[in-house]
Amino acid sequence: SSYNRVKLVEVGPRDGLQNEKKTIPLATKLELIERLSKTGLTTIEAGSFVSPKWVPQMDNSSEILQRLLEHPLPAQRPLTFSFLAPNLKGLNSAFTVLAQHPDRFAAENTPPTADKPALEIAVFAAATESFSRKNLNCDIATSLARFKEVIQAAKDTHSLRVRAYISVVLGCPFEGYDVDPHRVAQIATELMEMGADEIALGDTTGMGTAPRTKELLNCLSAAGVRNEDIAMHFHDTYGQALVNTAVALEHGIRTFDCSVGGLGGCPYSPGATGNVATEDMVYFMETLGMDTGVDLDAVVDVGEWITREIGKENASTVGKAVLGA
Ligand code: HMG
Ligand code: MG
Repeated sequence: SSYNRVKLVEVGPRDGLQNEKKTIPLATKLELIERLSKTGLTTIEAGSFVSPKWVPQMDNSSEILQRLLEHPLPAQRPLTFSFLAPNLKGLNSAFTVLAQHPDRFAAENTPPTADKPALEIAVFAAATESFSRKNLNCDIATSLARFKEVIQAAKDTHSLRVRAYISVVLGCPFEGYDVDPHRVAQIATELMEMGADEIALGDTTGMGTAPRTKELLNCLSAAGVRNEDIAMHFHDTYGQALVNTAVALEHGIRTFDCSVGGLGGCPYSPGATGNVATEDMVYFMETLGMDTGVDLDAVVDVGEWITREIGKENASTVGKAVLGA
């Protein structure tokens, strides 16, 4: 039943890689996306159209989008690819590629097929002024005005689905635990009114706890933001990501972000580590009888491969357990 179904959003190729200092070859990124697409994952964040001066690792996102459109991946299930775009400049970089391949992707409200993936644009706001400044070089109000343009253009030009992140919702590297859940609800409401299809709540710092996750979600519900429009994006810096996931699941949320091998971190959140590992998320959901559609062994292999490939420790507890068993 749909009650037992959860959607996992794989953010490894974007959140997982954006903070890596050593340049990762385009071929490795494409191979990662292809390997992930064979595990049963349907939604993959594949790149980010941000300033290369700010985040050099995401510089070849145009090439990634181009390749994904030119060579449809032999996926298990039809795919959706997501790309970050903080402003019209970033969105226009994506549009330049789309203009060259107008019939290679599914429009919004048309399901993706084997040879036509769906595309999604993601904007990213912050719940605190200090994080907004560090991450986007502007205050929250200015960022929201830019996102309004991005959302409108994404809809008007290519009918793209738009995800809207709100970062540091459960703790800020600069303002601590003092993040107002009502402010988060207010920003979420504004983004939904602009036409965003989904709000992704980012625990960027991993400072989130079970009670504060509950409090935040209650606040969003009270503000009228529906559970089906919310995704949870937990970083696991303090090891609380799955505990908070359980709380969100109990609240009725069914979309969760994760990153293979536990890769990741935000360059503007000092010390923050990766997202909750996809392997750990899949295993956890299975123990609860939830259906992710993802093959655990397959995703464990991808986690081991990519962490070796980029010379990082495999940060997935479940991945290491499965491999050691
Ligand atoms: P700015 O310096 O204020 O921008 O940066 P600007 O408009 O003044 O432009 C300055 C230069 O950047 C110009 O180039 C622009 O053309 C260029 P120049 O004339 O100096 O050669 N530029 C761009 N280039 C490529 N693509 C663009 C773009 N925009 C401007 N889109 C800006 C403002 C938003 C661009 C900058 O702050 C930026 O790129 N920030 C992105 C930071 C980022 O990517 N952070 C990580 C992703 S968010 C995250 O990880 C959190 C998340 O995972 C959720 C969670 O965990 O909470 C999503
Ligand atoms: Mg993140």
